[in-house]
Amino acid sequence: MSIALVILAAGKGTRMNSDLPKVLHPIANAPMLAHAMQAGAALAPERVVVVAGHGFDAVQSAAKDFDEDAIVVEQKEQNGTAHAVDVCRDALQDFDGDVIVLFGDTPFVRAETLESMVAAKAQNAVVVLGFEAADPGKYGRLIMSGDQLDQIVEFADATDEERAVTFCNSGVMLADRETLFSLIDDITPNNAQSEYYLTDVAGLARARGLGVTAVACEESETLGINSRTHLAAAEAVFQARERQALMDLGVTLQQPDTVMLSFDTVVGRDTLIEPNVYFGPGVTVESGTRIRAFSHLEGCHVSRGAVVGPYARLRPGAELSENVHVGNFVEIKNAEVGEGTKVNHLSYIGDATLGAGTNIGAGTITCNYDGVMKHHTNIGDNAFIGSNTMLVAPVSVGNEAMTGSGSVITKDVPEAALAISRAEQQTKPGVARKLFEMLKKKKQKRALETK
Ligand code: UD1
Ligand code: CA
Repeated sequence: MSIALVILAAGKGTRMNSDLPKVLHPIANAPMLAHAMQAGAALAPERVVVVAGHGFDAVQSAAKDFDEDAIVVEQKEQNGTAHAVDVCRDALQDFDGDVIVLFGDTPFVRAETLESMVAAKAQNAVVVLGFEAADPGKYGRLIMSGDQLDQIVEFADATDEERAVTFCNSGVMLADRETLFSLIDDITPNNAQSEYYLTDVAGLARARGLGVTAVACEESETLGINSRTHLAAAEAVFQARERQALMDLGVTLQQPDTVMLSFDTVVGRDTLIEPNVYFGPGVTVESGTRIRAFSHLEGCHVSRGAVVGPYARLRPGAELSENVHVGNFVEIKNAEVGEGTKVNHLSYIGDATLGAGTNIGAGTITCNYDGVMKHHTNIGDNAFIGSNTMLVAPVSVGNEAMTGSGSVITKDVPEAALAISRAEQQTKPGVARKLFEMLKKKKQKRALETK
C-alpha cells in the first residue's frame, strides 16, 4: 500500500519563548522539521504534506529545502490536531493509500517503529504509536482492552483513574485516507480545550466496529519538544545516537560525550576523533584520519591519512587531500590543499590552491581580502613558504619556489625561484650592552625623582 506522510507543524510553540517557529529550531544544525521529515522518509512516502501556520513562509521554505516536492498547506487558525489533518484533505484528495501523521515537534521516531506500525495496519483500520512514559505528565492516555485501543483521553479531559495510566499517545497515527477523513468528519470540539482532537479518531473508529491498536516504542523516540529544556534533551538524544552510530561504523571517539556532530556528518572507519571536536554542517571525513582535540570543522572534506588539529578550524570549502597535516591555530577556508602538504602552525589559508608536498611555514597568511573583494592565492607543488610570509592575493608561487621568512609577497614567484622582501638586517657590535646600561640608568633616575 502506498503511503502519504502528513507532518503537523502549524503550532506556535509558546513555551519556546522565541520569534522562530518551534519546528525551525535546530537540532544538530538542521531544523526540527527536517528531522521529522527524515524520520517519515524511512517509509518512502509517495506524497509528503506539511501543515504550517505560525511562520508559514519560513516553515514552507524549510520543508522545501528538505524535500522540494513536499506540499505545504496552510492552517490559518490552530483549532487542534484533527483540524490540522483536515486542512490536508485537498492535498490528499486523489491519493489512494495509507496516511501516516507525524508531529513536527516529535522528530525522532525510528524507521523500525514506523515499519511495525505499517505491519500492525494489516489487521487494523487505525494504528497509533504509544509509549510507556516514565512521567506521563500531560500526554494523552491510551485506554486499551487487550490489544485493542478503546480510546485516547487527553490529560485535560481525563479522570483520575485515566490519568493513572502510563501508556501514552506519541501523536503518530496511521489509517487509510478514506477512513481517516470520514472519522475526522465526526469529530467535534466538545472537550476541555474546545479543540478538534485527532485522538478522537480512536474512539470513533471503535464505535464503528473497526480494529484500532497501539504499537509501543521507546520513550526517547517520542520526545516531544515544547521548551528549550526539551530542545537540549532532544539534542542530547540525537548526539548520543549519532556518536553510537559512528562507533558502530568503526570510528574511535576517545571521549564521545564531548564530540558534537551535525545531522549530515560523515566519518570513515578507523578515523580517530580526540575530545572536544565540533562538526558543523557539511563535513565529510574519510577513513584513517585523525581529528585532534578542540578542532572546529564545517563544510569541508578531509581525505585519508590527514591529521587535523589540535585547535584547527576548517571552514566551508576547505578540501584537504590525502596525508595533509593541519596543525594548531590554523584556519583554512575555501582552499584546496594538495597531497601531503603541511600547514602546521598559526596560519590563515583562505581562497587558495596549494599543490602537493608543500610546506607552509608558521604564521603564513594569505591576504585574500582587500576590503572590498576577495582574491585567490596559488601555490605550486613542493614549495616552501617561509614563516610569517604575507601572500598578498591575487598572487602565485610556482612549483619548488621558496619565500623568505617575514616576506610580504605582492608579485608572482616563478618556479624554483626564491623571493625575499624584507628590510636588510643591520648588526651593530656592542650597541645592545650600551643600550641596556643607558636604560637602567634612566630607570634609577626616575626612582630617585619619585621618592
Ligand atoms: C498531542 C496529543 C496528545 C499526545 C501529545 C504527544 C492531541 C489532541 N493530543 O498533544 O495525545 O500525547 O501530542 O506529544 O492530538 N498542531 C497543528 N495544528 C493545530 C494543533 C497542533 O499543526 O491546530 C501541531 C503542533 O504544531 C504540534 C502537533 O500538532 O507539532 C501537536 O500539537 P500540540 O498542541 O503540541 O499537542 P499536545 O497538546 O502536545
Ligand atoms: Ca506537543
